[in-house]
Amino acid sequence: MSVWAVLAAAGSGDRLGSDRPKAFARLGDEPLLAQSLKRLDDSDWVDFIVVAAPPGWEEPAILLAEELGCSKVSACVTGGVTRGESVAKALAEVPEDAAVVLVHDAARPLVSDEVIERVLTALNEGWDGALPGLRLADTIKRVDDEGRIVETLNRDELRAVQTPQAFVASVLRDAYAEGDAAVATDCSSLVEARGGRIKVVEGDPKLIKITDAADLGRIAALL
Ligand code: CTP
Ligand code: MG
Repeated sequence: MSVWAVLAAAGSGDRLGSDRPKAFARLGDEPLLAQSLKRLDDSDWVDFIVVAAPPGWEEPAILLAEELGCSKVSACVTGGVTRGESVAKALAEVPEDAAVVLVHDAARPLVSDEVIERVLTALNEGWDGALPGLRLADTIKRVDDEGRIVETLNRDELRAVQTPQAFVASVLRDAYAEGDAAVATDCSSLVEARGGRIKVVEGDPKLIKITDAADLGRIAALL
């Protein structure tokens, strides 16, 4: 049973406002991408890694993996315009006989073995996919264009979801083949749209997504 990790690292990081793509922004004394690369490579659950790199940054991504001794990196593709397109291009490098695909965002550097174990365990239980999610502290309202409240959602039913998201490889492949990857903000939504059974497992508060410069500082303190 081979587990292939797809590392989505091809975003430009507009909201970070750095002079380089987000995956190569400094976190501590390394590029942000180094954390997730090392952690996936070190994980006994992961067999192979495909990286989606920002256009023009394929070479630095490969060099970084070599420098870090990440022996599981099997391919590095040029990312697309959207996250979905980047994942689709990386998926094309995952061989037919792969059992499981674990898709992770480089923007969440602190991925742990424990969370990988939780999503993969759910697949072993027979789910089509599994992803980490956290309960919300805030009450969430649906509003219209004018800001008028349309509905107050039941907080107990809501989860803020994270990556890594794990899927039976054939299920994810079919979802990308038939869905509109360009509009999906995560992989799960494409699988859900086709009726896939996805489980939300316990998330990890440390899996913070780096969006702006303040997030970099917060995460550096947790390294
Ligand atoms: N991503 C990607 N290819 C894209 C866009 C995003 O692989 N064309 C990846 C990013 O590298 C990131 C993850 O998807 O790991 C989540 O995206 P986000 O946090 O929005 O990162 P960016 O798109 O880089 O940031 P911004 O939206 O501020 O430009
Ligand atoms: Mg983005």
